[in-house]
Amino acid sequence: MEKINLSEMYVDDEIRRSVLEVLDSGRFVKGEVLRKFEGEFRDFCSAKYAIGLSSGTAAILLSLIAVGIGKGDEVIVPSHTFIATATPILFLGAKPIFVDIDLETYTIDPIDVEDKITDRTKAIIPVHLYGHPSDMDPIIDLAQDNGFHVIEDSCQAHGALCKNEKVGTIGDIGCFSFYPSKNMTVCGDGGMVVTNDEELADKIYMLRDHGRREEDKHIHRILGLNFRLSEIHSAIGRQQLKHLPGWIEKRRKVADLYTKLLEDVDQITTPIEKEWARHVYHLYVIRTPQRDGLREHLEKSGVGTGIHYPLPVHRQPCMGDSRYLALPNTEKCAREVLSLPIHPQLTEGQVEYVVNTIKAWRR
Ligand SMILES: Cc1ncc(COP(=O)(O)O)c(C=O)c1O
Repeated sequence: MEKINLSEMYVDDEIRRSVLEVLDSGRFVKGEVLRKFEGEFRDFCSAKYAIGLSSGTAAILLSLIAVGIGKGDEVIVPSHTFIATATPILFLGAKPIFVDIDLETYTIDPIDVEDKITDRTKAIIPVHLYGHPSDMDPIIDLAQDNGFHVIEDSCQAHGALCKNEKVGTIGDIGCFSFYPSKNMTVCGDGGMVVTNDEELADKIYMLRDHGRREEDKHIHRILGLNFRLSEIHSAIGRQQLKHLPGWIEKRRKVADLYTKLLEDVDQITTPIEKEWARHVYHLYVIRTPQRDGLREHLEKSGVGTGIHYPLPVHRQPCMGDSRYLALPNTEKCAREVLSLPIHPQLTEGQVEYVVNTIKAWRR
């Protein structure tokens, strides 16, 4: 039986060569390769600044510190996301205010956001979940009217567009992850922040490297730690970034084929792309009330699947009082979502096999 993986990482000889070049160079951190990767990612996003970091989680944490989040502040976040959107808020002594999602795009619901703004709201983190952008216009309007910062969690959405603007550049700061399953990776942990704000960029540069600037090694201007991205990871990132536009096209083709073939299948809701959006399909997520049975059937037939996410963030044991909140769309998704295999190497035949396996399932 053929095994079809949920996601697959791509490694070729050029990537292997780029790693060997770094090993031979003798320079492993804070070198030319990182600077080039940052420049290329910055241009890819059409941003003014890009700062390489050790993970997407670090990107969110340093962004929150840079905009001044601290004790007693409130930060609005969706609960239907990976936990790393919310945990950095708690580490800073601030409070995550969980809001519900829109059931079509699985991204933050601007109406619920408006209801939950208080005079303690200092930031919002919309998440471009699964690769579909959040609806940024109402979020930016609310942020401007109420004077809070917008940090885009773009960890699943490299290259996605919201009204022709690259995600990550619409708010104050955009955060990216290069974890191995992402649309592009550094074959390990890595992340990036992009911004058009010089002051925020300068702070994040210092925060990632013990509070100092490149030019004066022994002066620690602010409190910082080590959240640097290594030269080897940067070298892999540069190679992966070259492929990213082509990979996005392939993911979109796979998604279109799934959606076409699943069109008439009873009780399966397929993902949509809003007319103002360009989805990059980090995940292809369907919804069905009989999710667990279908998942078992697919796994038995060699089809890798995932659930993103089975327990909403606000319900996690580490989340304290937030556990008692009611977020109906979030809870529904936790019960019904199922991620099907998607990656650029997936063939038409494999997509057909997945769909035929779904169709053959007897409830
Ligand atoms: C939505 C979201 N936010 C944050 C993160 C954290 O990124 P990382 O795993 O690189 O720390 C991830 C990735 O795992 C993610 O999917």
